[in-house]
This record gives sequence, structure tokens and C-alpha cells, in this order.
Amino acid sequence: MSDALNRILKEITALREAARAGADAAAGAAAREAWRVKYLGRKSEFQNIGREIGALAAEEREAAGKAFNQLKNDLSALKEKLDGGAATRNGSPRGQNRADEAAADYTLPGVAPYVGALHPLTATYYEVAAFFAALGFGVAYGPEVEDDFHNFGALNFPPEHPSRDAQDTIYINDERLLRTHTSPVQIRVMMSQPPPLRVIVPGRCFRADAPDASHFPVFTQVEGLLVDRNVSLGDLKGTLAAFARYVFGPETKMLFVPHYFPFTEPSAEVHISCTVCRGAGCGTCGRTGWLEIAGAGMVHPNVFRNVGYDPEEWVGYAFGMGLERIAMLVYGINDIRLFYENDLRFTRQFG
Ligand code: PHE
Repeated sequence: MSDALNRILKEITALREAARAGADAAAGAAAREAWRVKYLGRKSEFQNIGREIGALAAEEREAAGKAFNQLKNDLSALKEKLDGGAATRNGSPRGQNRADEAAADYTLPGVAPYVGALHPLTATYYEVAAFFAALGFGVAYGPEVEDDFHNFGALNFPPEHPSRDAQDTIYINDERLLRTHTSPVQIRVMMSQPPPLRVIVPGRCFRADAPDASHFPVFTQVEGLLVDRNVSLGDLKGTLAAFARYVFGPETKMLFVPHYFPFTEPSAEVHISCTVCRGAGCGTCGRTGWLEIAGAGMVHPNVFRNVGYDPEEWVGYAFGMGLERIAMLVYGINDIRLFYENDLRFTRQFG
């Protein structure tokens, strides 16, 4: 064996040892890159050895080549181990962050987190409340589990009267029921304070309706009640017409259609000109040009008697509107069930 071959084989062994020790000590991306340059780079000892082998006599080249190939395999294995280790480190959340930080551009504007938004029903209620607050209406609340007296009796529904059937009541037991409208809160407010008063009452109501595009067993009403002296049906009409223009736009028309409610006399269904076709007639308004949004009327003297107000002295008006209906018209929503399904694809459209 020539001296040259002997030296080359020793160099190979020494280089392998050094590369192993270096790889063990290489922590961090910079150290790994330095290792790669030192042991596999173009100007590395490894490349030098390759050149030296080329200068050997042909019969010694085979033995040297074998040892050199083994060294090459060992070095690539070491490199892979280093890279693999790096991938595992980067795979952990902290490692990934460090890699991202290196690439981050801190001059870019931040990404605002989604902080949520008002549900369209809540947003609509705030609009309604803002209008009535400007007219001096306060806000009152009442329980969702009611009794017959507040939900029906005090509102002048006689015990066996068929008007009770129109509200498909969900009963809890013989005395308790889920309120079918917000009108029972009229009774609670009047029994707890003397006239004059003006309040709106937002709240959930419940009826045993099968869900479809326009019915849901849970829905929301906003009740209104005003009690004072010298109140007329004209006041009620003017107030609701102004409300309709405020919510649906200045060109909105309003129509009172005679109706029956036990607790108001006279009573009306409140219709507005269709917000889709502007009164011409379309699918939304059933080709009538009008949409019902509320019930209303002058407080029945019997209701005043039931709460201890003197019907000779006090007059009042009341109305109750369906908040879902109003929100659907304002936002162009075509199915009431969307309000209650908690589908973020729907609710996020209002953020
Ligand atoms: N409570 C009635 C209903 O739910 C609506 C209404 C309220 C009508 C107030 C007149 C006055 O149908």
C-alpha cells in the first residue's frame, strides 16, 4: 500500500469522526448550515479527498474509492439526521413559530381578529328601540313562562273564547304556559305603576307552530303601550307610520286593516307597502302589494279595569310587531329558521 493511499484512508477515518462530533454539537439552523458547508460543501475536506483519489494509481483507486463511498454515505446519513431533527423541531408549534418569525415582515399591517357581531335580530331590535326611545318610550321585560291570567285573562280573553285558539299555546301544566305574545307584559307594567306611561317590550314568544319558511315555534315580538289622556287612534297611526318610514325608508306607505283582538278596540292589522315590489305586487307580498308587520289598537276599557286604571280617565294604544318579520324585510332574509340555527355562515354576514 502506497503512502498516498494510507494517508487518504486515515484522512477518511478522521473526517468521519470529526463530522460525527460536529453533527452532535450542531444546534440551530445556522450551526447546521455551517456543518453542511464544512463537510459537504464545494471547498470541503471531503471534496479534497475526492480529488486526491483521482491522483492515485489505478490499482489503488478501487480500495480508496470504496472507503470514500462509505464516507459519502455516512456524511449524507449525518446530514439527513440533522435535517430530520430540524424538521421535527420545526414541527413543534414553538419551532414553527421561530421559523415563521424569521420570515415575518413586521411592517405589514396586522390581521384583525374576528370579534363577533350583533345577531341580525338584535341589530333590528336596537333600531326599533332607538326610534321609540326618541319618542320617550322606556323598555320593560316580563317572564317567558306566564300564567293564564297575564297571557289571556287580564287581556280580556274570556275563558272559553275562540280567540285563544288562534294562539297555539304551549302549556307547561294547568296553570303555566309559554307566553304566546308580549302583551302579558302590558298587564305587569300597568299593575306595577300608575299612568301615564309609555313602554316597549321586547321578548321571545312561543307557539306550537310547525317550522317552515315563515313560522317558528320561537319568535320575537316588540310590544308597545302608551297610556295617557287625550290619546287617539290618529296618534297610534301617525306613530306607526313614522316608525315604518324610519325602518323601511321614507317612501313606505302604511295601511290599517280592521281586525279583532280581545284587548284592543278598535283593532287593526298594520300593513306596509311591500318593500320588495314597492306595492306593485310580487311573490313576497302574495301579489297584494302589502305586508303585515304588526297588530295594534286602542286599549280595551276592560283591560284598564283589570289592572285598576279608570277607563273614564285614561286612554291608550298598544301594538305588537313581529321582529323576525321586520328583520327579514330589512335584510332580505327569506327563511325565519335561519335566525335560530346558529349557522355562522349566516350570522357572519351581518358582521
Ligand atoms: N299580541 C298580539 C298578537 O300577538 C299583537 C297585538 C299587540 C295586537 C298589541 C294589538 C295590540 O297577535
